[in-house]
Amino acid sequence: MKSNEKKDLLAIDDFVEDLPDIIDWAIRYKNDTEIHDDFKPLDGLSIGSIYEKPSTRTRVSFEVGVHKLGGQSLTLLANDIQLGESESIADTAAVLSRFLDGITYRCFGHEDVAELARTATVPVINALSDLHHPCQSAADLMTITEFGQKDAGHIAWVGDGNNVLHDLVLAGVALGHDVKYATPEGMEPDSGVMARARRIADRTGASITGSNDPVEAVSDAGVVYTDIFVSMGEEHMSDKSAKFEGFQINEDLVAHADSDYLFMHCLPAHRGEEVSDAVIDSKNSIVFDQAENRMWAQMSLLTYMCNEEAWQAYHALQ
Ligand code: CP
Ligand code: NVA
Repeated sequence: MKSNEKKDLLAIDDFVEDLPDIIDWAIRYKNDTEIHDDFKPLDGLSIGSIYEKPSTRTRVSFEVGVHKLGGQSLTLLANDIQLGESESIADTAAVLSRFLDGITYRCFGHEDVAELARTATVPVINALSDLHHPCQSAADLMTITEFGQKDAGHIAWVGDGNNVLHDLVLAGVALGHDVKYATPEGMEPDSGVMARARRIADRTGASITGSNDPVEAVSDAGVVYTDIFVSMGEEHMSDKSAKFEGFQINEDLVAHADSDYLFMHCLPAHRGEEVSDAVIDSKNSIVFDQAENRMWAQMSLLTYMCNEEAWQAYHALQ
């Protein structure tokens, strides 16, 4: 991408080349507390966040992260703005681009955030769509890196072939991690996304293995990851969760993982469904560090996308 083009983040592979740097920056900035009071790359900038679905982590981490970087954050709940039947995505994008310096958008269909990115003249961040959750994966790989799992066993996913898995695989293989996922039959990840991930893995030397067998995925894993079985927007699929029998992350399943495995979950968790209390509350669980890192990873993304000069200046500090 040329530096004078606006940067949009629809899926994490949009930034595949710079992802290691984005994650390094997030870890470095999180720990570099002495510069927090002076480094304000969003000073004078306003970031608006549109939500069509509920959110705890994404909403709070964007609001607080923008504030910490010196910017103004506006949360725009879809029911409170004209977007939808009253006003098209393109007209909304044109208007918001006159006020804002960046837009985040949590939507149902992925094509909606793609349309917003096409029609806005300011950077657009996908804050979760039915197909991708790139901010989650940036925080996930930041957390895996922080906990030193780079050379540990592979990343194992047990659960639905959903938005969180898509970006976890894309980001995981981009950083050289092997990924093994197990989903119930018929719940496999999107084949187009997996083809993109395989092309990245070919370059980095990582591997991707899919099956319908949770034990195969988890055996010797360094990271064990799951998500809710029925995602937002799928509530009408009442029989979906029945397909996940045998896919709960519990003590019997994690006994197959490396003894120092890390348990990860994007949250919110449905305890007793996709994960047992014993696992999510165990010493191996890093779910709350992972949640906190949503903010640091997004602060890195916002600086990278909205203030190239500050991004470069921070890198020049050694
Ligand atoms: N993981 C995540 O995106 O959480 P929220 O739905 O609370 O934002
Ligand atoms: N797959 C879940 C993730 C929630 C953060 C969903 O889309 O609802």
